[in-house]
Amino acid sequence: MNILVTGSNGQLGNEMRVLGATHPKHRYFFTDVVEAPDTHMLDITDRQAVKAFVAANAIDLIVNCAAYTNVDRAEEDEATAFKINAEALSVLGSQGVHVIHISTDYVFSGDEHVPCRETDPVAPRTVYGASKYQGEKNLLAECPDAVILRTAWLYSTYGNNFVKTMIRLGSERKELGVVFDQIGTPTYAADLAAAIFTVIEAKVWHPGIYHFTNEGVCSWYDFTLAIHQLYGGIECAVHPILSEEYQYKTPRPHYSVLDKSKFKKTFEVSIPHWMNGLERCIIKLKAES
Ligand SMILES: NC(=O)c1ccc[n+]([C@@H]2O[C@H](COP(=O)([O-])OP(=O)(O)OC[C@H]3O[C@@H](n4cnc5c(N)ncnc54)[C@H](OP(=O)(O)O)[C@@H]3O)[C@@H](O)[C@H]2O)c1
Repeated sequence: MNILVTGSNGQLGNEMRVLGATHPKHRYFFTDVVEAPDTHMLDITDRQAVKAFVAANAIDLIVNCAAYTNVDRAEEDEATAFKINAEALSVLGSQGVHVIHISTDYVFSGDEHVPCRETDPVAPRTVYGASKYQGEKNLLAECPDAVILRTAWLYSTYGNNFVKTMIRLGSERKELGVVFDQIGTPTYAADLAAAIFTVIEAKVWHPGIYHFTNEGVCSWYDFTLAIHQLYGGIECAVHPILSEEYQYKTPRPHYSVLDKSKFKKTFEVSIPHWMNGLERCIIKLKAES
């Protein structure tokens, strides 16, 4: 297959490059809005450019890793967030090829106390969440057999993320307050990339919306303790604090655990626990430092 990967300079896009190398039977076209080594320039909001790229390279499948992911900035830049996260999904969905798209736990309100299923009602509380939900709808309107994987709390050795921030702050500071009243599941982007390849390599194409994160749950506070413990050599006292003490600019979901039963049953796979994913990420980070 000829596979177009968008947003390939981001966390997930880079993990797709790494894993793509172990699936050499496909031909990959890694693209992003900014040109970089081994990356073609492709803005997913540019309808003509996407159409021309898909035709020129006989693309069979689009894996959309591109997104506007800054939750706080999206509140002030709604038009751009919707252009990239919603309108571009009509563009990608109308190319007449298979599409795998990534969505988010932010489509839910975060007020639940049990893991969210794909069929649960959505109620985004942020511009980012609303734009991602509109993207799901736009994609399915153009491409009803698309696969949408909703994920959460993504981190990787690539890009900026919570794991890297906590390693840095833990090394710089003696004390750190981290919220303990937001519960979710950290997800190693390498494991999400593996899930994407599970979808690609399945004997049958299984369209629909799926939830995919690592297994288990924790708070950002517990996650930080695990990061510091696994990284080692960090002497920073981490205190649990409430969300209201942190003063977020944009509301964050209190509980955004996703139920992954549908993905595991459909694709007959097990999913690594978040601590296992974190361990692999930290081993790689330390090897690269
Ligand atoms: N990060 C999380 O915690 C999280 C949680 C749940 C779901 N997700 C979803 O998971 C997916 C992957 O997230 P990620 O963390 O890998 O994102 P990321 O690191 O922010 O990567 C996104 C990439 O898309 C690029 N991009 C932005 N606008 C584009 C455009 N118009 N055309 C082409 N490329 C464009 C970005 O470039 P610039 O950096 O130059 O803008 C960036 O390289 C996204 O759909 C995201 O919504 C993420």
